[in-house]
Amino acid sequence: MSVEVKPHGGIGESIKRKEDGRFLVGRGNYLDDVSLPGMLHMAILRSPHAHARIRSIDSAAASAVPGVVAVVTGELMAQHNLAWMPTLSGDTQAVLATDKVRFQGQEVAAVVAESKYAAEDAVGLIQVDYEVLPAITSPQQASEPDAVVIRDEKEGQKDNHIYHWEAGDKAATDAAFARAHRVVTLTTHYPRSHPAPLETCGIVADVNPATGKATLYMTSQAPHAIRTVFALVAGLPEHQIRVIAPDIGGGFGNKVPVYPGYVVATAASLLLGRPVKWVEDRNENLISTGFARDFHMTGELALDSEGRMLALRVHLDSDNGAFFADAQPSKFKAGLFHIVTGSYDTPAAHVTADGFYTNKAPGGVAYRCSFRVTEASYLIERLVTNAAIEMGMDQAEMRLKNFIPASAFPYRSATGWDYDSGDYASAMNLALEKVAYSELRREQAERRARGELMGIGLASFTEVVGAGHGKDFDILGLRMFDSAELRVHPTGKAVLKLGVKTQGQGHETTFAQIVAEELGIPAADVEVQHGDTDHTPYGLGTYASRSTPVAGAATAVVARKLRDKARALAAHLLEASEDDLEWERGRFFVRGSPDRAKTIQDCAFAAYTNLPDGMEAGLEGVSYYDPPNMTFPFGTYAVVVDVDKGTGVVKVRKVVAVDDCGVRINPMIVEGQIHGGLTEGFGIAFTELITFDSDGNCIGSNFMDYLLPTSWETPRFECFETVTPSPHHPLGAKGVGESATVGSPAAYVNAVMDALAPYGITNIDMPVTSDKVWAALRSKGVTE
Ligand code: CDP
Repeated sequence: MSVEVKPHGGIGESIKRKEDGRFLVGRGNYLDDVSLPGMLHMAILRSPHAHARIRSIDSAAASAVPGVVAVVTGELMAQHNLAWMPTLSGDTQAVLATDKVRFQGQEVAAVVAESKYAAEDAVGLIQVDYEVLPAITSPQQASEPDAVVIRDEKEGQKDNHIYHWEAGDKAATDAAFARAHRVVTLTTHYPRSHPAPLETCGIVADVNPATGKATLYMTSQAPHAIRTVFALVAGLPEHQIRVIAPDIGGGFGNKVPVYPGYVVATAASLLLGRPVKWVEDRNENLISTGFARDFHMTGELALDSEGRMLALRVHLDSDNGAFFADAQPSKFKAGLFHIVTGSYDTPAAHVTADGFYTNKAPGGVAYRCSFRVTEASYLIERLVTNAAIEMGMDQAEMRLKNFIPASAFPYRSATGWDYDSGDYASAMNLALEKVAYSELRREQAERRARGELMGIGLASFTEVVGAGHGKDFDILGLRMFDSAELRVHPTGKAVLKLGVKTQGQGHETTFAQIVAEELGIPAADVEVQHGDTDHTPYGLGTYASRSTPVAGAATAVVARKLRDKARALAAHLLEASEDDLEWERGRFFVRGSPDRAKTIQDCAFAAYTNLPDGMEAGLEGVSYYDPPNMTFPFGTYAVVVDVDKGTGVVKVRKVVAVDDCGVRINPMIVEGQIHGGLTEGFGIAFTELITFDSDGNCIGSNFMDYLLPTSWETPRFECFETVTPSPHHPLGAKGVGESATVGSPAAYVNAVMDALAPYGITNIDMPVTSDKVWAALRSKGVTE
């Protein structure tokens, strides 16, 4: 008798997102929804200057405001040894300024009051006497010999240099350049951008004076790691700290670091014995927390006469702001930037990187990016397009000629990465077919003959995601494994607890699907819990597209452990040998007698009611998964643009995306991730600009100036896939969350540069706004 196979919501099924039920009816539980009895509210006074010495702070008027409970200054924090805190990159950062302010928007003092209104009113009455100092707003200024030293409080810090870092083989690279037929050079700036999640950052700190236990409700992408950092910073016993990350309205890397507001609110709650809430407003979020990118890069590509790559040489200067605060794996000072050879079989490469302090807010967060992969991908994809244009080759042909061939995997890159799997040519060919590349080139030739500007941009990105294997990847010494704990109740319903934390990526659905696939329990019967350190196993958190590669693998592994136990239970129930049992999703049956079967639910019930002698009760387990390697998702994006000569306005006509993230758990969710990333890439490429004037004033600290794309200007996306499984991931899955943010900016910009190529315009830094395009055209005498 064959058993009817019901839809389980297993791998490959586009089931609807379980979590959307509560979000769609407004029943999500975000940080600002948390309200505790006796809760106080905190507001922060921020520096109006980018660089200034603090002569004095007068808080008398602020303290007198009705409802104000405390005014907290750096001096008070210093009395508790909390004026400074360690950062995730091993630097220190001011919690509340004591000596100087080092960026506009830096935290200077905080007011704790009975209401948010009283706190905000009082903040405006704090008098600070500043002695304004010159501001440094670029690595170039920071490295001038007479530049003022920003971090003069650091012992032994005589200049603004943070680190020098190298990867690859200099001698081999120099030798290849010496015999190159042609060297193509590109100098470009990947500008500061901001993840700008819908929900800003915040905390409700509740230190219970009776028990000493600190319960911290936080918008954190990494609750366990944050708990450990808090234990180290505040000297609180770790078991007395509970971090609860409720529903999160977008993180994108903005919610990884520890921000001063978190520390001040916790200290205030500890000192006052009452819960304290602090939630950033939009301006605070954009001016002070979680900047990304700001890499000044020069790439040189050595080519032979056929257009084959011989070597890549790259130098970058990183603008880290006043504190080196972003999370990087400890060994890689410039993040994972040395993936910069991308999809290309480059025999030699050498990368040098220097980090600098400037008078800007701490930057460098991995905004939807695996630690600086975005900057690397942008540079190589822009370089390849420029190289093809310079050599008079077709841009697709140039790429196809230089791709790492599918037969070469696993592949060791010139900077030391072991790519797990890939088939770049197939992804590119599919994209060329879907965008109708040959026809577009024909159309372009006709339009060019008529003096019209049309461009076709390609980017064939390779990412490195899923940090990491613990021996090479750690943050402050914490190895980057992740975890899953699975418990099946007697009636066959399951609870899966994760070390990672969703911020909107749909983990409650996709991780349930992994259990459904491995154990046969329908996804609807698997509840996924995450974000509460008291009730989930230790993990490093969700960023850098690591959830599926690491915690997804942990989930598969723990489910398989439970399946092994269920097999023994089934054998006991069927009075058969385990070796004679066959598994099909959801049930064991005796080989040759498919009607002699026990379902996974039968086995779960038996785990609590009818066990073989000597077996422990229960059906549960935990897995801490340390991946053997990273995963390397890839794809090709093709963008078609028309550029108006008279105004410089760029109109995106078509976007085709081919992504390969190995096995897709939920294709609909994957496509949603790609749509989101393509939209963010569009914003970075064309509209989003956060810059600083010469005094260090942040221009772009609100949504009137920092232009996130809306549905009005965002183009339509056509998405396709190839599937090249990861050979080392238990499910063959690779991460995908950030692929499109990583890969698409170069495709958009390449399209514009392709349009402008006939006029010898080789680069426009992002965002490629119409005024810049118009100015570039005008400089060549082209505008109408
Ligand atoms: O770490 P993060 O969740 O941001 O990134 P991810 O691991 O790439 O996953 C993003 C979302 O896509 C999650 O819901 C994944 O489970 C889902 N996904 C998938 O369905 N199949 C894949 N091969 C990769 C991710």
